[in-house]
Amino acid sequence: MSPNQPTTLTVKAVAHWNSGSETTANSDFDSLTRISSGSNTKSLQKKAGELKSPNTKQPGILSVESRIQTQAIQALARVSETRDLYTFSHQRRVAYLAKHIASQMLLYPDQVEGIYFAGLLHDIGKIGVPGEILCKTSKLNIDEVRLVRRHCEIGYHILKDIEFTWPIALAALQHHERLDGSGYPQSLTAKDIILEAKIVAIADVVEAMASARPYRPMMGVAYALNEIVSKQGTVYEKAVVAACVDLFSAGFRLNSVDKFSSF
Ligand SMILES: [Fe+2]
Repeated sequence: MSPNQPTTLTVKAVAHWNSGSETTANSDFDSLTRISSGSNTKSLQKKAGELKSPNTKQPGILSVESRIQTQAIQALARVSETRDLYTFSHQRRVAYLAKHIASQMLLYPDQVEGIYFAGLLHDIGKIGVPGEILCKTSKLNIDEVRLVRRHCEIGYHILKDIEFTWPIALAALQHHERLDGSGYPQSLTAKDIILEAKIVAIADVVEAMASARPYRPMMGVAYALNEIVSKQGTVYEKAVVAACVDLFSAGFRLNSVDKFSSF
């Protein structure tokens, strides 16, 4: 498999969600039951319970390759931490939310894991953006905006040659793309954006709006959920929005993130 090529499971899931099919796969059913409550989710869970995941790992048993891959990802995330504590903390919270959205969507556990890691590294390209621009409290000028936007391509460049099991580099490249082509850097439309990037995008938007920024106060989770619901189907993937809303309706909170999650 070439680097960054979506896995078979990823391709299946992208096809599934992009086509709007209700077919789904089994996941960590017990933990899903704990975090979900929406009626859509319940019917999906019922179907999920009838299926068997082909890729269920035994808890606590990881291959050496798996462990090294995880350690490499955490080391890369810590590079962000060393450079910019704010971005590191944002990535960790996005990873946490993205992982739970993916679980809520009943994706395969392996894909949920990849989405967590994609969240953890999605903004690693900000390492190539001058710190004074990232921390600027006033409005960015057009050149500064252009520089900030380069973080997607810088992140892809950093990650693309690592043979991760998951399309982590592609998710970093595409996490600011939007279904209607209004995103960047490539103005991709729905069918060309991988599911991992669509999930990280929504987790990114919700986390960003729920938190304070150097240039504005926090807007809150309710505001963020209104925003994604108002643009579902046009800007944001409907199934991802529904899973995110269900999650928060069931009592999910972002403020409990204090360390790397483990799988
Ligand atoms: Fe970003």
